[in-house]
Amino acid sequence: MRLLIHGGRVIDPARGVDGHLDILVEDGRIARLGRDLTAPGAQVLDASGLTAAPGLVDLHVHLREPGFEAKETVATGCAAAARGGVTTLVAMPNTRPAADCPEIIRLVRDKAAPTVVNVLPAGAVTVGQRGEQLTDFAALKAAGAPALTDDGVPIQNLALLRQAMLRAKELNLPLLDHCEDRDMVQNYAVNEGAVSRQLGLPGRPAIAEELQIMRDVMLAEDTGAHIHICHISTAKGVDIVRQAKARGVRVTCETCPQYFTLTEDEVLRQGTMARVNPPLRTQADVDGIRAGLADGTIDAIVTDHAPHTAEEKARPLSDAPSGMVGLETSLPLALTGLYHMGLLSLSRVVALMSATPAALLGLPKGTLAVGRDADLVLFDLDEVWVIDKNRFASKGRNTPFHGRTVRGKVKYTISRGTIIYMEG
Ligand code: DOR
Ligand code: ZN
Repeated sequence: MRLLIHGGRVIDPARGVDGHLDILVEDGRIARLGRDLTAPGAQVLDASGLTAAPGLVDLHVHLREPGFEAKETVATGCAAAARGGVTTLVAMPNTRPAADCPEIIRLVRDKAAPTVVNVLPAGAVTVGQRGEQLTDFAALKAAGAPALTDDGVPIQNLALLRQAMLRAKELNLPLLDHCEDRDMVQNYAVNEGAVSRQLGLPGRPAIAEELQIMRDVMLAEDTGAHIHICHISTAKGVDIVRQAKARGVRVTCETCPQYFTLTEDEVLRQGTMARVNPPLRTQADVDGIRAGLADGTIDAIVTDHAPHTAEEKARPLSDAPSGMVGLETSLPLALTGLYHMGLLSLSRVVALMSATPAALLGLPKGTLAVGRDADLVLFDLDEVWVIDKNRFASKGRNTPFHGRTVRGKVKYTISRGTIIYMEG
């Protein structure tokens, strides 16, 4: 099996490559990169006018299976990933049952295998994500978990979290933490501030996130464990990570397109579609997130793809579930909001969505180096189009970006040499 990707602009931030090159794929791997390659008998993919980059690596995806198949299945989530240019993803463990044992890790991997998307199920930190008893980290790792997290149910017990860090460090596993103090945020729907006051609702204060980031950073400093802060959403939170990194703490963090694109005002316009945890914040926070992306404090752009059914999202704001889908919109939103706005170079945007998240988990992904898996996304950097949730492959239609005009469109996604998505 040979595939010649011909005539495109190739960007591989991990190796400082940005130029017009052809790519030869053989047996699922990158065989050669060069100008005017020929490969008699190979399938030729005309990439002229397109940009070819490493397949995207999304560290934060809720695939919902087992247990919540009405929201999403591994198959539909992976189809959404393929449409979005994502070839590797970390699946969150808040399924039913939770991914707190090797059997569930293996089940998710088995379901994903035929999709050719590289799915890495994260293991739960605590049994049933109940925050009481640590899971068997070694067994989860042996089954293929690349990291541990109780995402969706932030860990509150500090003694337990400290123990988890010490154990995770021994096994060289990162802990991915959703930082929000549960007592402060309850099941509230929106950021605490102007919008919560206008709606007459209790809000989730920024300090609830920042205190837990501070707490995590200090525990990571003390234990030497690698802590990764999930979907960071506040300017001060970014600043805490910035200072910790300067001290040499093993802390990394991610954000999502919603946090550098939207503010809490979106809730007034779109109600439950804009309900997400942590909540959309203020313009000052959006600016802080952008600054963190620009100066390298933020390591990765992820989606926190969190599909819910239309019925669930039709409930009143105060009891609808939180979350928005993101796999099919993350690259265009990042290109539009960061690259085309002149905030980040194209190579930085691509790195934040491939090379740095891969490196963070120690995965041999996120680069087009010869010999590596041929995972690629080919996109039109400049095509202007309108996001239409009705065209999503995901079962989830819960996006606040429906109807938004964006610039940049995925045309092909290739995983281990197989074309898993092709537009039209
Ligand atoms: O908005 C969110 N939705 N935040 C989370 O942490 C969990 C997620 C979900 O599972 O729906
Ligand atoms: Zn979360």
